[in-house]
Amino acid sequence: MKLERFSSKEDVYTRAVDLIVKAKQSGAITFGLATGGTMEPLYAKIREIDVDFSNCISFNLDEYVGLCAKHEQSYACYMDQHLFRNKPFKESYLPNGLADHPAEEVARYESLLQQHTLDFQLLGIGQNGHIGFNEPGTSFDSLTHLVTLAQSTRQANARFFESIDEVPTQAFTMGIQSIMRAKCILLIAVGEAKRDVLERVLASEYTEDVPASVLTKHPNIIILTDLQEEENS
Ligand code: GLP
Repeated sequence: MKLERFSSKEDVYTRAVDLIVKAKQSGAITFGLATGGTMEPLYAKIREIDVDFSNCISFNLDEYVGLCAKHEQSYACYMDQHLFRNKPFKESYLPNGLADHPAEEVARYESLLQQHTLDFQLLGIGQNGHIGFNEPGTSFDSLTHLVTLAQSTRQANARFFESIDEVPTQAFTMGIQSIMRAKCILLIAVGEAKRDVLERVLASEYTEDVPASVLTKHPNIIILTDLQEEENS
């Protein structure tokens, strides 16, 4: 596990773009993509540079259940707004939040993932340690599945909605095993709100209570942060 600390968020995102461009230049074709506030500045930077993903394939980590792709808080809409409309990929996949049969949808998405090894997986992290929408307690062996969101996750994401009541209660997410199959993982953790959870991951706790702690076992992961080591800790 490689950790790089930067003195500003700006530097974190510059480095993240650099790593993505280098991965692409080295032949990465299949990218696992993430959403959330953390990724917005990253996609803004990517939109501004001369990089072409038109021969690449993307898979998003997750999608809310019950929101159609056009709903402005769906992750399909987020990806279109923040990245795809400027930097289209050859093919882009997300779970279908309106699927009539959740079991069929998770099987469909997992099967697609198993047909396409992820060369590069981008990850944010929830304050409770979730990756994708794999909440605390999720098995490290999990594949794509339907989750009931933790109340703290709905609370954290309520800032994007009119009120917490509008935040969906369920989501589809790649499983932890699905994520860990990626050849390379880039985790971005910026801002004080992520300090505690990042410290737990860096302390090499390995527990399903902190889903991101599984990443300590990944052979090729880089973590970028603007958080400095606390003195006297
Ligand atoms: C969200 C997403 C995750 C994201 C995380 C952190 O709910 N499902 O993929 O990494 O929680 O979000 P943020 O970057 O807004 O803090």
